[in-house]
Amino acid sequence: MTINIRPMDPAGRAFFAGEVSGIDLTRRLSDTEVAAIHAGMDEFGVLVFHSQDLTDEQQLAFSRQLGPLETATGDIAAPEDRRLSMDVNDISNLDKHGKVVARDDRRRLFSLGNLLWHSDSSFKAVPAKYSLLSARAIPAEGGNTEFADMRAAYDALDAASKREIHDLVCLHSQIYSRGVLGFDEFTEAERVKWAPVRQRLVRRHPATGRLSLYLASHAGEIEGWPVPEARAFLRDLNEHATQRQFVYAHVWRLHDLVMWDNRVTMHRARRFDGTQVRDMRRTTLTNEVSSLEQAPTPLH
Ligand code: OGA
Ligand code: MN
Repeated sequence: MTINIRPMDPAGRAFFAGEVSGIDLTRRLSDTEVAAIHAGMDEFGVLVFHSQDLTDEQQLAFSRQLGPLETATGDIAAPEDRRLSMDVNDISNLDKHGKVVARDDRRRLFSLGNLLWHSDSSFKAVPAKYSLLSARAIPAEGGNTEFADMRAAYDALDAASKREIHDLVCLHSQIYSRGVLGFDEFTEAERVKWAPVRQRLVRRHPATGRLSLYLASHAGEIEGWPVPEARAFLRDLNEHATQRQFVYAHVWRLHDLVMWDNRVTMHRARRFDGTQVRDMRRTTLTNEVSSLEQAPTPLH
């Protein structure tokens, strides 16, 4: 088998979202395959692997071949209620007994935050690098995942906007993103755990040198700005960055694995019938450093 990557949308966006073939993620990869995946991620920002019927252990082994993982400390489930290990984010609508959670279940309401455009773990001081999402059970319809290319969105800004945002720092927290949907039932411990963290609004990809907009629903303030002005401006930037020409919509097939680079993309889940099972498992590579360490070179 030889690994091959082709653009999902060769006519419209040959540079965003690649479909990978000729690889079996259940076994240990060669150094050549690992290098090809990193190169593919640098080029496409999103990679889609079909027909990868993985166990959690296989998904973890594959993920660890790409780099160090973060733990699922962004989940709201108490440790005794978790269905999966702390190395796997539970992106399902199931409880630990495998039953679909109730419509008003607290974990479900919290997880609806995934319907808002975001970048994973931007609310952590050291955020996420790659996310790997594996489809173990999918609803009959709906539940797509959309991805927006934050490199293309940055490039399309005019020069004055690029100058204005170049050195801005945002404050990110899950308290902000859930607040957008009117969810504010946080315990004191959760408020402490998810206190806002600082992230650059423009960051530089260490391998390609390209700049991208680092936006997320978690961003609720811009340092040094009045809050309403910051939120209005972040809304404008999000509207710009998620125009259709920057977006790839993934329609899931069972056993797809989709991997994205959180440094250069935002994503969101789309609605589906919540009485049907949707079981997705996410492993997440840590960025190892804050976005504050990935500043662009100064503008002149
Ligand atoms: C995630 C996420 C979207 C989806 O796994 O980080 O936001 O469609 N998922 O489930
Ligand atoms: Mn996410």
